[in-house]
Formats: sequence, C-alpha cells, structure tokens
Amino acid sequence: MVRLSGLSIITIVTAVSAQFTSTGLSVTLQDVHYFISPFSVGKVSVDHKALNKVPGVYGFKPVSVVPDAKESDLPKLLSSWTSIDDVFQPAFARIILLGSAKHPHGGPPGQNKKHLPGVESTILKLNNNKIPQGPYFLEVETGSLYPVHRLYPDFTGSFLEGLLQKPDGTFQTLSAQIPGSASLTIGVPSRLYYTKTPAKPLAGVRLGVKDIYRLAGVKGSNGNRAWYNLYPASNVTGTAVQRLIDAGAIVVGLQKTSQFANGESATSDWVDYHEPFNPRGDGYQDTSSSSSGAGASMAAYEWLDIAIGSDTGGSIRGPAGVQGLFGNRPSHGLVSLDNVMPLSPTLDTPGFLIRDPYIWDAANAAIYGKNYKSLVSAKPKYPKKVLALGFPAANSQAPSAVFFNNFLTGLTKFIGGTATTLDLEGEWRVTGPSGPTLSQLLNQTYATIITKEQIDLVRTPFYRDYAAAHDGRTPFVNPVPLSRWAYGDSRSAADLEAEYKAKATFMKWWNEKILPGVSDKNQCSSGFVVYPGSSGGQNPRNRYRTLPGAPLGFGTSRISVFAEVPDSVFPLGEVSGFSAISNHNEKFPVAVNIMAAKGCDGLLVKLAQDLVKAGVVIVPKAGGSVEGGEILMKRRFEGVDMGY
Ligand SMILES: *[C@@H]1O[C@H](CO)[C@@H](O)[C@H](O)[C@H]1NC(C)=O
Ligand SMILES: *[C@@H]1O[C@H](CO)[C@@H](O)[C@H](O)[C@H]1NC(C)=O
Repeated sequence: MVRLSGLSIITIVTAVSAQFTSTGLSVTLQDVHYFISPFSVGKVSVDHKALNKVPGVYGFKPVSVVPDAKESDLPKLLSSWTSIDDVFQPAFARIILLGSAKHPHGGPPGQNKKHLPGVESTILKLNNNKIPQGPYFLEVETGSLYPVHRLYPDFTGSFLEGLLQKPDGTFQTLSAQIPGSASLTIGVPSRLYYTKTPAKPLAGVRLGVKDIYRLAGVKGSNGNRAWYNLYPASNVTGTAVQRLIDAGAIVVGLQKTSQFANGESATSDWVDYHEPFNPRGDGYQDTSSSSSGAGASMAAYEWLDIAIGSDTGGSIRGPAGVQGLFGNRPSHGLVSLDNVMPLSPTLDTPGFLIRDPYIWDAANAAIYGKNYKSLVSAKPKYPKKVLALGFPAANSQAPSAVFFNNFLTGLTKFIGGTATTLDLEGEWRVTGPSGPTLSQLLNQTYATIITKEQIDLVRTPFYRDYAAAHDGRTPFVNPVPLSRWAYGDSRSAADLEAEYKAKATFMKWWNEKILPGVSDKNQCSSGFVVYPGSSGGQNPRNRYRTLPGAPLGFGTSRISVFAEVPDSVFPLGEVSGFSAISNHNEKFPVAVNIMAAKGCDGLLVKLAQDLVKAGVVIVPKAGGSVEGGEILMKRRFEGVDMGY
C-alpha cells in the first residue's frame, strides 16, 4: 500500500510538471514591445562572461545571429537590417553571434567594435549553422535561441485573436497585450528569418485570416459568439490557407467578418462584434463587408502584408474599394473551400486584400495552384477590347469622374485598344434569349441562392447543435443574417431551382456573347469589362440605416458572381471631401473594377503591375491616406510617447 501510494504521488507530480509550459514572454527593449516565442530554434554554446555587459530579463538577452558574413561586412549588413525589418533594432547588435568569427567563445578583451552607430558589439563565435539570420533572445542558462516577434496594437479592431504559428503547424493564441483601448495585440516575427525560394515564394509574408477559414488548434466564430462557444477548435487547417502556409506565409491572427459573411454595416448591424475601423479619411467610414477586418488591417498596418478574405457578392471588392486596396474576386472554383464556412458554395470565392501587386501574384499562384497562370514573367498579349459599364459622362462634375475617365483613357492607351460603352440590358435584348429583362430574371437570384444554401449548410446544423447543448434554446443571430434567412424560408425548393437556371442562362450568355476566353494563353481573355468601384463617397458608421432585408436586385457587381469570372479592384487615388465627423476636408479612396474571361486571373494581376508602371493605377500605402501618412484615430499629441 505504501509503495503504491508513493508511486501515485510520483505520477501526479510528473503529470503536473509536464503541463507547466511557457506560452512566451513579453518584454520591452529600448521602448519597443517584443514577444519571446516559446519555441526555440536551436542551441548555441557561449561564454557567459562575454555576455555580462548586456542586461538580461528572466535570463534572456537580445542577440543577433549572422551565419554567413565577414566581420568587415557587419556595418553594411546591420544597417540594411534596420531598413528591411521592422523587428530588428540596434540593441540586438550588442551581442553578435557570427559564423565566421575566429575564437570559439568570444574574442580577446577589447574586441568590442562599433558596427552600428552608437552600439558597441561583442562578437562571439556562432557554433550552430542551422539558425537563420536575425535577432533572437538567447536564454543564457541553456544557450537556447528564441525567435523575436514585434508587438503591435490592433487599434482598428480588425482582429479577433492574435495567433502564434507553432512548429507542428497548429496555432495558439498569442499571449501578449500592449497598451491600447479595446485593442488586441498582434505579433509579427522578424522578416530576417525568411528567404524566398521557388518552393517558398511567400516566405515570411505576414497573413491575416478571415474568421471563416478554419485553422488547426483555433476556435472560429464566423462573427457569431454563440458559434464560438458551441464548437471546439478545428483540428485541421483548410486547403486554401494551408497552401499559403506551405508557400511560407506566416499567419498572425484571425480577422473579423460580418456575421456568417453576410453583408452588414456599422452601426446597428454588428451586434455580436464591433465593426473594425476604416483608417482612411476621417477614420469613421464604414469598412464595407464581409471581409471587414481584412480591409481595415491592410489599409492601416504596414506590418501586415496580405489578408485572405472571401467574396460571395462583393465581400472582398467592397472593403478593397472603400479602403483603397487591390482586391480580387477570383474565377469561381479555383481551390477547394473545405474547412471554410459557406455562405453559398455555388458563389463563394477566396481572394485577397493587398497593397503589393507582386505579393498578390505569388499568393494567387500559391492558393490556386495549377488553376492560376501567372503572367508576371511572361509577355502578355493584352486584349484590345474594353467594355465600360456605368462610367461618368466626360463632362461630369463629380469629384471621382476625373479618376474614372483618366483610368479609361490610360487603360486603352496602354493596351492600344478602344473602349465602348456596354449597355447591358440592350445587349441582352439583342443577343440574349427572349424573355424577361436581366433585372427581372436575376432580381431574386443572388438572395435566393445564398440564403437557401446557407440555411441548409449553416443554420440548420447550428440551430440543431445549439438546441441539443442548451436545452432546446436558439442561439443569438444578428439582424441581417436573420432577415436574410427568413427571406430564404419564404422561397421554395422550386424557386431555388429556377434561380440556378437563371444564373446558368446568364453565365452562358456572358461567357459566350460578351466576354469569351481565347485560346492564346498569353491573352486568355477577349477583352476587359470595367466599372467604377468606390467613388470616394462617404458612408459614415454613425448613421442609422434602413431595416435589414434580402439583397434583392441585379447590378454590375453581380456579373462576376453569376458568370464566375474574375473581378478585381484597382485603387486609383482619393478625392477630397468635407467630413461631418471631423469638420475638415479629408481624403476618401477611389477604385475601379476590372473583369476578364473566366480563368484569366493571372492576366488581371499582370495588368495591375503594368498599369502601376504606366502611372494609371497606384500602389496604395498603409495609413490615413492611400499615400500613407498618419491615421487620424491614432494621431499623437506632439512629443507624447504612447508606448508603441
Ligand atoms: C478531425 O476531427 C474530425 C471529427 O470532428 C475527424 O473526423 C477527423 O478524423 C479529425 N482529423 C484529424 C486530422 O485529426
Ligand atoms: C424584385 O423583387 C421584389 C420582391 O419580390 C419586387 O418587389 C421588385 O419589384 C422586383 N424587381 C424587379 C425589377 O423585378
């Protein structure tokens, strides 16, 4: 008996100690907030005495690892680090672990040198050649090196959770919090750790993920709190996001979606969660939806490179337009949407909100695989036909008109083609099947398909599981999805079949008569169809709007939805407008949409890159304006350090 109880005590002790783990540590270095990852990348052996000059925290000291440079190259190398990486700073250079250093455990006394202005460096021999270059925190006691993440405040409220990618491919919550008002903390690893290769074209690219994509080890909400609490963390990462990770992308957090990816506007629609803040202009414009966190974060944070959203009826194009970003609704069906919450599998597409058109191409190539033909290093044969939908008259006085009309001129000049106005209904009357007009035929198509599909795939199992777990109760759902689902309930199975037919009829007509593909792979599309996107109008978030209802009606933004063709947003600039929020003139983004034939997604990205070079389209910056600059909602008082 004595022996047995002794054994069981040992068992308990073992079990308890095994569960005492670090989730990482937060520190500051020269007033910059950092996070020490709990996942060591390897060990080095160093002479403790050589480290004495640099103070430590919890036994950690900041160091730099330089595997393959000569000592004489350090000044140039380290100063390049300060410009390419937002994580590295000179304080990491006080101890340099150098692969080419001669002495095994540091050099003779007096060998401290200034390799960066104002920093005295102790050079020690790096005796582990598996550690990538960059800043680390060295645990002096064990010689373990831990990656450094810089911590940033999510002051636009774009994220639901900061995430830390674990070495085993799953994720855990980032256990860090820096000052900020109702603002999460997001951590980004040093850019210096990663090298882009053909196998890892997205190496180190920092990625935000819309909260409809399931990630291994992470609970999702789809914008609904009852959902978050009801279901366990996913045990897999879906194909689409996994492909980005496999290409080297680093997931830094989960981002807000309007509920169940249905379109919602601030202020009254977002009941379960608060809509993120659009950083452009006065800082109080609606972000558009449903990829709201993706749009607000890409517009606000230079430290974020790309955000994956989804577009069923405009959920990427809307946020890209009002935040002045590139964004793509891709051709339908380029990648599996397993482990993604559906709005409507018939219409759902995964795409990006992004500032850099080259990262855009690499991300498309990674996620769509062989269904994407990159033309970045090809010589494209641009189609000469441009069909313009809804452009302003040449003499229009609207502030955005000059942007749209200059774009049309610039595009046709660049490709050496001509633009003609597309009269959609007129063309349909002439070349379409006889019967109803487009706005009659397609009036209820979108609303019927999305609601009936989401009722079956999301509402029914959700309500059933919730009732089973909560004594027959119904979960809380925001007004917009509720009203849309109620509309779906009023439509019959036969109505849905009729709407599928209407969609198929339209798609056939569009893809045969208006915008067919061509067999030449470097051209792909017979033309471009262009239409104005965001016109720099104001849609402040403090306005009470009409009651929610079904998204009825047909318009230009539904063309790509039904025809399954790629439809991308290109930012053009900004118009100045008087803001009733700030009582001041502010700038609001203007953007245009471009469609090509189905499967020609690569052509649109190449066009974006070329139109940037031609000065027709801009590369937007993060900030209060597409030209960069301070964001009004976080502008500081002169001389006051806000701590980040
Ligand atoms: C994930 O969980 C599901 C059930 O929820 C199970 O069917 C599946 O095998 C699990 N997959 C992995 C990779 O563990
Ligand atoms: C679209 O459908 C709604 C609801 O049935 C109806 O009120 C409206 O008149 C329809 N519009 C067109 C153009 O058919």
